[in-house]
Amino acid sequence: MGKSNSLPPAGHYNANYGNFQTELYAQIRREAFGEDIGQNSWLTSDEQDRFLEWLDLSPGKTLLDVACGAGGPALRMTATTGCSVVGIDVHEQAVTTASSLAAQRGLAERAEFRSTDATGPLPFPDASFDAITCIDAINHFPERPRVIAEWARLLKPGGRLLFTDPITVTGALTNAEIAVRSSAGFYLFVPHGYDERVIAHCGLGLLVCEDVTVNMAKVAEARRTARASRSTALREIEGNQTYDDEQEFLAVAARVAREGRLSRFVYVSKKLS
Ligand SMILES: C[S@@+](CC[C@H](N)C(=O)[O-])C[C@H]1O[C@@H](n2cnc3c(N)ncnc32)[C@H](O)[C@@H]1O
Repeated sequence: MGKSNSLPPAGHYNANYGNFQTELYAQIRREAFGEDIGQNSWLTSDEQDRFLEWLDLSPGKTLLDVACGAGGPALRMTATTGCSVVGIDVHEQAVTTASSLAAQRGLAERAEFRSTDATGPLPFPDASFDAITCIDAINHFPERPRVIAEWARLLKPGGRLLFTDPITVTGALTNAEIAVRSSAGFYLFVPHGYDERVIAHCGLGLLVCEDVTVNMAKVAEARRTARASRSTALREIEGNQTYDDEQEFLAVAARVAREGRLSRFVYVSKKLS
């Protein structure tokens, strides 16, 4: 599959990353997530605290956050555990914001952000990292066996991989729902069980597989409501079309998650040798 298939189109992610550090968008994140950690996903701070228990990070260890977005989640992991982090994302504005947040939070010495397309070979030697995370973004990459094999290459023996897959098909979906839910670039829809098989095939031992769909349903609905109550200001910033598309995206994401038809799972695995 060609590289251009995997890149997100301008509209969807630009609205969030272009306005990320404004007070308006920070307010929406606070209402949607409870705590604004600078995320652009379905991740809440209490969920990340649970994820950190599985990652075994500490000072001196190195973490790679793939598709790091604006860097908030990666920076919180660094601040909490003392590890170093490299974050990569294809979206230039997201990476610029991430670097600026690292400087603002006094973490620039331990946190580096790079603009990189994560669908291809990654620019790091074998066994570079103690842990790799990828939150709510693996669905944007084609050729999942090749992507996870590349992550396995980058892990040290015993290193941990944690990713969430929010595009796991667990029920009936209409073509209209699939079209709206996959409106931000390339999307891979997989059946439950597929990720476990790829993990095993890539020489990783599965430690955890947990259904975390509830967070996605709650956050999508809370984000839609928080945006609706600021619709006049958002329409001016985003334009009517982008605003309406985003609201429809969040409504569909909330509904199919709440009804258990499109699910989100977290997988934690360990490099065996
Ligand atoms: C739902 S956001 C999650 C961002 C971040 N993990 C977080 O929790 O805030 C998905 C991210 O995937 C990134 N992305 C999409 N395609 C990509 C690619 N081919 N290479 C790297 N990043 C990509 C987008 O730019 C976006 O930042």
